[in-house]
Amino acid sequence: MEDNPRGALLRLVSGYQVSQALHVAARLDIADRLAAGARSSDDLAAETKTHVDALYRLLRALASIGVLHELDGRRFELTELGEGLRSDVAGSVRGWALMIGRPMHWNTWSSLVESVRTGENTFRLVHGTDVWSYRAQRPEELAIFDGAMTSMSGQVDAAVIDAYDFGRFRQVVDVAGGRGAMLAAILARHDTVRGVLFDQPDVVANAQALHDRFGDRCRTVGGSFFERVPDGADAYLLKSILHDWEDEECIAILRVIRKAMPQHGLVLVLERDLGGPNENAPAKLSDLNMLVNPGGRERSENEYAALFAAAGLRYVGATQSAAGVSVFEASAT
Ligand SMILES: C[S@@+](CC[C@H](N)C(=O)[O-])C[C@H]1O[C@@H](n2cnc3c(N)ncnc32)[C@H](O)[C@@H]1O
Repeated sequence: MEDNPRGALLRLVSGYQVSQALHVAARLDIADRLAAGARSSDDLAAETKTHVDALYRLLRALASIGVLHELDGRRFELTELGEGLRSDVAGSVRGWALMIGRPMHWNTWSSLVESVRTGENTFRLVHGTDVWSYRAQRPEELAIFDGAMTSMSGQVDAAVIDAYDFGRFRQVVDVAGGRGAMLAAILARHDTVRGVLFDQPDVVANAQALHDRFGDRCRTVGGSFFERVPDGADAYLLKSILHDWEDEECIAILRVIRKAMPQHGLVLVLERDLGGPNENAPAKLSDLNMLVNPGGRERSENEYAALFAAAGLRYVGATQSAAGVSVFEASAT
């Protein structure tokens, strides 16, 4: 059925079932529980305090799409695909799976039609406030979101560091760097680089691991990038930040950085390039997620160049990485 166009379309339409099944598997830590080898669904049901038959149905559905492999006696093992849901593997997507099925994310997406009708940000339409204020008042949601960002970061950090030489900088500020996964990857790769993790106070408060790992090579600063960012660094990293905002706010953020950076400083925007028509589904779908959640957009290279120019920065060029994220570089002069 899946080989014909109607079957393929039906599979796309029903994609939500896969998302939610993977979300539940992540919540129940199924992949971690199978890390040492095959186990029966009865055994997993007892350990996760779930319903024996319902858990078996979840697991066999996941086996039908290649995330698990079902053996005799209702036993299951991880496939190579399923390994990516473990919490302790490089590039784990568990954090992202934990977020996408939660009511906060799931229910907001269910009102996408309102944004398509009005052009307004879905999250605001549904919740009456922006994502950042909403999460700031809900520590559990904030922790889940930061975990999702760290999870996505694991997908791209190594590829970006392979593609772009951060070793030439003495000091890098990771502007809105979350828990500092990208900064940690840079400091680990280049031991001459020092780093500053800048984000909202509640977020940097959870970045203790960075201090423990890098000591005085790294400090954290809490604040808002609409007001000020730490000054004097050689490079200002903005990873997955500008796509959260509409042009006006992006220009405001870039102007704040422009003010803080020295003459020789660089701004490095790490984002997906939207690409041309009929391609790059990850960027085009992420763009929809930006409409739904933060109220921003994914952009093309020309659009990033225009943002830089509007903020008084000079666009230098883009470096592509194997993970589909590019480094868009701009200088102060
Ligand atoms: C999409 S996440 C990206 C995090 C990180 N750069 C990464 O790639 O994993 C956006 C980040 O922007 C931060 N943020 C939102 N509003 C902010 C503000 N006004 N000032 C500083 N950081 C802010 C959030 O706390 C969050 O960590």
